[in-house]
Amino acid sequence: MARTGSRTIFFGGLFMPLVTSTEMFKKAYAGGYAIGAFNVNNMEMIQAIVEAADECKSPVILQVSAGARKYANPVYLKHLVQAAVETTNIPIVMHLDHGADFDICKASIDGGFTSVMIDASSKPWEENIALTKKVVEYAHDHGVVVEAELGKLAGVEDDVKVEAHDALFTSPDEVEEFTQRTGIDSLAIAIGTSHGAYKFKPGQDPKLRLDILEEVGKRLPGFPIVLHGASSVPQDKVAIVNQYGGHMPDAIGIPESELQKAAKMAVCKINIDSDLRVSFTAAIRKHFAEHPDHFDPRQYLGDARVMMKEMVKHKIINVLGSANKA
Ligand code: G3H
Ligand code: 13P
Ligand code: ZN
Repeated sequence: MARTGSRTIFFGGLFMPLVTSTEMFKKAYAGGYAIGAFNVNNMEMIQAIVEAADECKSPVILQVSAGARKYANPVYLKHLVQAAVETTNIPIVMHLDHGADFDICKASIDGGFTSVMIDASSKPWEENIALTKKVVEYAHDHGVVVEAELGKLAGVEDDVKVEAHDALFTSPDEVEEFTQRTGIDSLAIAIGTSHGAYKFKPGQDPKLRLDILEEVGKRLPGFPIVLHGASSVPQDKVAIVNQYGGHMPDAIGIPESELQKAAKMAVCKINIDSDLRVSFTAAIRKHFAEHPDHFDPRQYLGDARVMMKEMVKHKIINVLGSANKA
């Protein structure tokens, strides 16, 4: 197992008490709630998330995808997260989302992340195990924890699009061998969630396979399970996007009631990105429609930050159950 607790990283004399997710997940499992893992790409998003989490006294995971690293430069993101740590009073994890290979995991670990995901779920079984194990060994040597994935989610991950008919639910028969042989700290499973804002077709029953989750929980008692693709695509925000010139027809997400049930079970980490994007975009579209004369980015990005912060608070209080757990 990786060392628990905070990772000490020096920034010009200050130390940065970012934490791993080990203690967070232990408490979340025992308490029947989940920690929100929110994707970050710029300063306003980081501020919106940590201000919300701080006001709710909730632990939080800030996660950075390969796309985010490319967009913002990991050094900028690291320092923005450091600013978040210094201006709040909550446990914060900095996590690599969907690491595709050893090199990106190593670069993230060397660059100060406290948690990484190696996503080799699309590779054959033995390859997934070998690559995951290699990342675990390097990560644990550096006090960093590792999430891996079994099963395939439909949707879009960076440049990879997985069609719904290629998506595969996780087989509970595989989870014990996979966790034992790799030594991972948490496991992402596929039970009907998917990435993006179009998770179900109109008329489809938007349910999760909570029976699979229950079985996985029995096979891995006390082990933290992760849900990717868990945005609910709030219809009031989609309506604002569409009202002010956007076009998001039939955008449908995971019902919050399904996520509430999962959070009470073995799920300790719930990934949310699309809902933040929709909120951010809705606010900007509305702002431009109402103020066609505005051209100061602080005006519309300020509105976007407010709407995104409200979304994160809603998730923490009403979906994840992690308020007052910091
Ligand atoms: O799972 C994917 C996340 O939503 C990150 O998306 O790869 O476009 O940054 P991205
Ligand atoms: P959503 O697209 O459902 O927000 O999922 C985000 C995610 O899983 C990031 O890894
Ligand atoms: Zn994901």
